[in-house]
Amino acid sequence: MGKVKIGIIGGSGVDNPNFLEDKKEKKVTTPFGDPSDALQTGTIGGVDCVFLSRHGRNHNFQPTNVNYRANIWALKQEGCTHLVVTTACGSLQEDKHPGEIVLLDDFIDRTTQRKLTFYDGSCDEAQGICHVPMDEPFCSKTRAILVSSLAALGYPFHKEGTMITIEGPRFSTKSESKLFRQWNADVVNMSTVPEVTLAKEAGILYASIALITDYDSWREGKEAVNLHLVQKTFKGNREKACKLLLHAIPKIAEQNWKDDMKKIEDLARCSLVK
Ligand code: ADE
Repeated sequence: MGKVKIGIIGGSGVDNPNFLEDKKEKKVTTPFGDPSDALQTGTIGGVDCVFLSRHGRNHNFQPTNVNYRANIWALKQEGCTHLVVTTACGSLQEDKHPGEIVLLDDFIDRTTQRKLTFYDGSCDEAQGICHVPMDEPFCSKTRAILVSSLAALGYPFHKEGTMITIEGPRFSTKSESKLFRQWNADVVNMSTVPEVTLAKEAGILYASIALITDYDSWREGKEAVNLHLVQKTFKGNREKACKLLLHAIPKIAEQNWKDDMKKIEDLARCSLVK
């Protein structure tokens, strides 16, 4: 069947995994340095899971300074076959409202200061050059399970959407926000890239639950995004994200992933020039 282990990366507002059973803390390091925090291992409905807080549990790392490579490496090293992550984001479309969830199926990269690959010659454990395909960054089979779970839970959601990841830490100007709309982006955040691309290099199936907290800055005559606005919607979002994970993870484990796991590992291997 292909036994699964689910890595969960909790974004802003979802940094305490109190939904894990048999929780144990495990401090690890990687050839790329330390991940953002200790891993928290445990189970959800009998399924092995590993939780990592993206920004650290005390929110110590701003988006540019998150060690994405160490985070993904640590979860791969731990045996994760899947990553299901949460991320707070702003909406770029009128029909996508704060409090709703978008299940991502594509991204646009507007980051400028991040290490985008494991294969930059800095590490003996990652030799060669990697040109990984990115025509399907997110795992559509995991996304379909999240769609079913959201429908069952009755939460408002969008079954697909394009995330534009900005460098941050500042929010976007009005002109930037309007430009992103012209590019048909649906939501904006500061962390999907390079997390999703590194997961692909590592041969891990990756799905993202984007939690809308605000309308960014494009709406004329309306309050633009600010920290207070974002934090105000965190509480409800956190509860929805946790209930979704509790519902979907046992369903993920019921599926046969053997072919999918082989395909993504083969893809990672075939993308290497040695
Ligand atoms: N995270 C939450 N809201 C955001 C926004 N409007 N832009 C970038 N990151 C965000």
